[in-house]
Amino acid sequence: MDFLQHYSVGVCYYPEHWPESIWEEDLRRMLDSGIHTVRVAEFSWSLMEREEGIYDFTFWDRFLELCAKVGMQVIFGTPTATPPAWLTETYPETLNADETGALYYHGGRRHYNYNIPVYRYRASRLITELAKRYGRHPAIVGWQIDNELNCEINDFLSASDTEAFRSFLVDKYGTLEALNSAWGTVFWSQTYTEWEQIFVPRHNTIHSHNPSLLLDYVRFVSESALSFCAMQAQILRQFTAGQFITTNGMFGRMDNHRMTKESLDCYMYDSYPDFAYGIDNDWTKDDLHDRRSSLNLLQVHSICPHFGIMEQQSGANGWYNRMEAPMPRPGQLELWAMQSVAHGADYISFFRWRTSPVGTEIYWHGILDYDGRDNRRLREVKAFSKSLEKIAAVCGADTDARFGVLQDYNNLFDADIDHWHRRVHQASEQGIFRAALKHHVTYDIVDVREDTPEDVLGRYPVLFLPDFIILTPHLVSQLSDYVKQGGKLIVGCRTGYKDETGKCPMHPMPGLLAPLTGTTVEEYTFASPAEPEAKADWDGKTIPAALFMESLKAEEGTEVLARYTDSFLKGEALLTRHAVGEGEVYHLGTTFSEAVVSALMTYLGLAEPYSTVLSVPATVEVVGRVKGGKKWLFVLNYEPTQTKVLVHAPLRELLTGKEMEGETVIPAYGVWVLEI
Ligand code: GAL
Repeated sequence: MDFLQHYSVGVCYYPEHWPESIWEEDLRRMLDSGIHTVRVAEFSWSLMEREEGIYDFTFWDRFLELCAKVGMQVIFGTPTATPPAWLTETYPETLNADETGALYYHGGRRHYNYNIPVYRYRASRLITELAKRYGRHPAIVGWQIDNELNCEINDFLSASDTEAFRSFLVDKYGTLEALNSAWGTVFWSQTYTEWEQIFVPRHNTIHSHNPSLLLDYVRFVSESALSFCAMQAQILRQFTAGQFITTNGMFGRMDNHRMTKESLDCYMYDSYPDFAYGIDNDWTKDDLHDRRSSLNLLQVHSICPHFGIMEQQSGANGWYNRMEAPMPRPGQLELWAMQSVAHGADYISFFRWRTSPVGTEIYWHGILDYDGRDNRRLREVKAFSKSLEKIAAVCGADTDARFGVLQDYNNLFDADIDHWHRRVHQASEQGIFRAALKHHVTYDIVDVREDTPEDVLGRYPVLFLPDFIILTPHLVSQLSDYVKQGGKLIVGCRTGYKDETGKCPMHPMPGLLAPLTGTTVEEYTFASPAEPEAKADWDGKTIPAALFMESLKAEEGTEVLARYTDSFLKGEALLTRHAVGEGEVYHLGTTFSEAVVSALMTYLGLAEPYSTVLSVPATVEVVGRVKGGKKWLFVLNYEPTQTKVLVHAPLRELLTGKEMEGETVIPAYGVWVLEI
């Protein structure tokens, strides 16, 4: 896609929030600061259709004409995230509902449901009008569909959702017999005898819903969001030319990978690293602070390796009723923007030009304050756009990933509804991320599905399989091929104890994967908070069995690497290795805690991959990128103080243009891009 072929800077702009008399000056100041694109219109339905079917685009005509005149590019948002009051008053059935079935009303945003035909109809009429009018407008380079699908709320519990859920289930299962069997409704006499007895999980039940119903419900929510997006994309493709289609995220209960493949030209993410340590989140408990955001960026990179940031934090976060957070300190704005670039963002659009003087987000600061005067943050944006020019050669580079972490939506969705799964999932996700970050290892999150080509997995010498509680025969054969051809697969605890319906197959764990691991699980339990954390010995090193404990029975030919040294599992195997074909399968009977992953990375020779050129403390993030035989390291200091770095051989730093060598310091909130 042309737009992401080179680095560029944009901003989110809301001309409807200010007098028209200041638009031109605003746009010119943006251009002067290196901002060449604005994202607009995504909440402006009521400006375009004040009454049902009466369209008036004169506001946007004037704005777009001005953009064309001054040379500002535009990403135009379809405004479906905020249906106007007349629409929801006339058609209350377009509203989403809470657990009791009570409707949400006008006054916030994202109060609609994806499935009601009348909403889809009204939305598609408006988008058709927009696309016909602006589909060849010289100022418009792209379209953003809706705004943050599944943000604010990802439960859809209206009557139309129930109807759509039933059709989804009829398509999936065909008969009630098949559905009852898949969901195990024999349990607690939940057997359905009519489709009309099935609802989205709306009605209050005593404590719980059937987990298999919930798993299908989450899949259904994802399908609903994807088909709403696809509907919009189809209209835009029909009536536009030479303009790309994107949306911004990233939110749960959605197959973001499939949505991007099916409907978008590229995916964009909204990056607010301050969420990681705003006052709301009690940052004292989290030693990663804003570095935590890099985990989200890894996920975005997996959805779309060269992505955009539609909203990059430029000021303090905050609604009037939540999310109180500090203003970015000098350097932080550029640091966070570079954090995005380091992980693969080629377009960075700051949120937002000027802070809104009205509405819920009066404390969600933009680059400028309410008064609109030039300020430090604007100077930083300008400096950032200049910095991007200096690293232009890096645009389009791949990550220098040393290993991959597999994930799929069966398991992401199951972790969403199953608390046991979620706990283990989060522990391993965090553990792998933390260990890699602190040992400066770049890795990829790898989405695996039936049509994943073999060479995608084969790119990684090592793959982690953290919590594949749901296994499918197809996945097992993909993994088996990977290992036979020389891959190293590291399997975590709780693997294989569910099938795709969420039922537990009646065989020893790790289920379908047992022939590959060469093990079976003998005993398993959550670690008791009342007991000390269990430990194991791995060649003289101690590793913890954090959160979950399994004892593994090694079959013939499987080597035991670590055994429990205490707890009721003392002497039992915690970590094994099994040679298969050209490769190896490791089985770990606990979560991938930071300590275990650190030990594994050292053992597998993955830790500190750039130690011959650079030594940096754990608090500094290092991201490697490669392109055409060239390699760069983004070195990001998130600390409020300068940090010592040892550069072992002279290296050119692209942002300062200096040669770095020996003991040197990276400034507070500083960024280097080293050519190695
Ligand atoms: C994003 C959203 C923006 C704005 C911002 C601050 O989630 O897309 O419209 O609301 O957060 O809340």
